Amino acid sequence: MLLKPATDVRLRAYAPYSRFKVGAAIRATSGAIHVGCNVENVAYPEGTCAEAGAIAAMIAAGDTAIAEILVIADSPAPVPPCGGCRQKIAEFAAPDVKVTLCTTDGAQKTMTVAELLPGVFTAAHMAKA
Ligand code: THU
Repeated sequence: MLLKPATDVRLRAYAPYSRFKVGAAIRATSGAIHVGCNVENVAYPEGTCAEAGAIAAMIAAGDTAIAEILVIADSPAPVPPCGGCRQKIAEFAAPDVKVTLCTTDGAQKTMTVAELLPGVFTAAHMAKA
């Protein structure tokens, strides 16, 4: 269900510096699908990941909860979200939400948010603030 939208949006990635195009698709708990791709910048740290784009699209569309997410890239092994994106995903996904990592060759690996980000920083850690 998420493979095609993620595959399609990946082709629109702007990645002239790394040449590594990434696509991400989120199914929100509403059922709506939101997509994003990486958008690089000549000032390298200003680039954004595909997952961040998909999350921004989800929020802009009025959804706030991720039911499922899939990420795809032309990588030798199913592409894992970077550390920052794991924290971004965890903001909007329950620990048992499935994250499917894909290659454009058809390899897939499904993990949960909790498996991807053990020891996640949460609002509870700020309880004394
Ligand atoms: N990238 C993503 O968009 N998502 C990931 O999960 C891994 C990395 C992007 C960032 C950068 O544009 C390129 O891939 C190389 O790091």
